[in-house]
Amino acid sequence: MARIFVTGSGQGLGYLAGLRLRDLGHEVVFHARNPTREADLGQTLPGAQIVTGDLETMDGAADVALACNATGRFDAVIHNAGVGDRGTGWLTTDGLPLVFAVNVLAPYLLTALMHRPDRLVYLSSSMHFGPGRLDLAKAWVQDEWRLPLDYGASKFLLTTLAFGVARLWPDVAANAVDPGWVPTRMGGAQAPDDLALGAATQADLALDAPMTGGYVHHGKACEPDPATRHPGFQDQLLGLCARISGVTLPAGTAKP
Ligand SMILES: NC(=O)c1ccc[n+]([C@@H]2O[C@H](COP(=O)([O-])OP(=O)(O)OC[C@H]3O[C@@H](n4cnc5c(N)ncnc54)[C@H](OP(=O)(O)O)[C@@H]3O)[C@@H](O)[C@H]2O)c1
Repeated sequence: MARIFVTGSGQGLGYLAGLRLRDLGHEVVFHARNPTREADLGQTLPGAQIVTGDLETMDGAADVALACNATGRFDAVIHNAGVGDRGTGWLTTDGLPLVFAVNVLAPYLLTALMHRPDRLVYLSSSMHFGPGRLDLAKAWVQDEWRLPLDYGASKFLLTTLAFGVARLWPDVAANAVDPGWVPTRMGGAQAPDDLALGAATQADLALDAPMTGGYVHHGKACEPDPATRHPGFQDQLLGLCARISGVTLPAGTAKP
């Protein structure tokens, strides 16, 4: 039996991935954004283990990491929580674009602060293609965010983060998943892809990851935007996350 933490699992793909794993007999710790969402989830899934906390701020993400660590080490973490384009242009109380705070910095902080699992899965998107290497040197200057960033660019950075972690932590299988365009709150009712299939790949990779640094869609390894593979760009992103948060990704390969 594996222990798995799924962020943003009160609804949508995270909920379905968690449910799939739970139904297979694994120990799943769900994650709710606030106590109201925790109560909703508790009603839907009586007895579910739930860690609660908002990933919008750096303090919130650090608190979630601490709460997770207090429950013990996980075999796998699925970094699923995310905000869509409605988050573009919205600055958090930390002065960061919401899409960067929730979609990139929170997964970075959880990765850095949680006991190191064996497998990490990051929810990417086909919308990650295109931005090219962003000029991250201009992103955070004198405690101010100066780079325009939309949802697609945030997923581009998250995918870069996943591959950076895969390169620096060879003892951990870290992969990115494109779930397809599926009908969740974020995807919208008109989304054409299969919802159950959209949740399956990340759940399966949380149990058994035959590769690391993969970009996987419906169980098949695909080619991501090649810029996400660039080690120098990965290091630049990790450096930016460390500079903004004051938290450095631990080095080395030993498990705590
Ligand atoms: N749906 C698609 O077509 C699609 C396609 C490609 C990639 N994805 C990715 O798949 C992941 C799941 O998306 P989804 O479609 O299932 O979206 P969703 O239904 O909107 O669910 C998003 C989840 O993230 C949580 N979340 C958002 N902001 C948070 C915060 N500040 N702190 C803690 N939790 C937060 C939400 O909590 P609340 O319910 O409390 O808001 C919710 O549980 C996302 O990373 C998304 O980018 C989705």
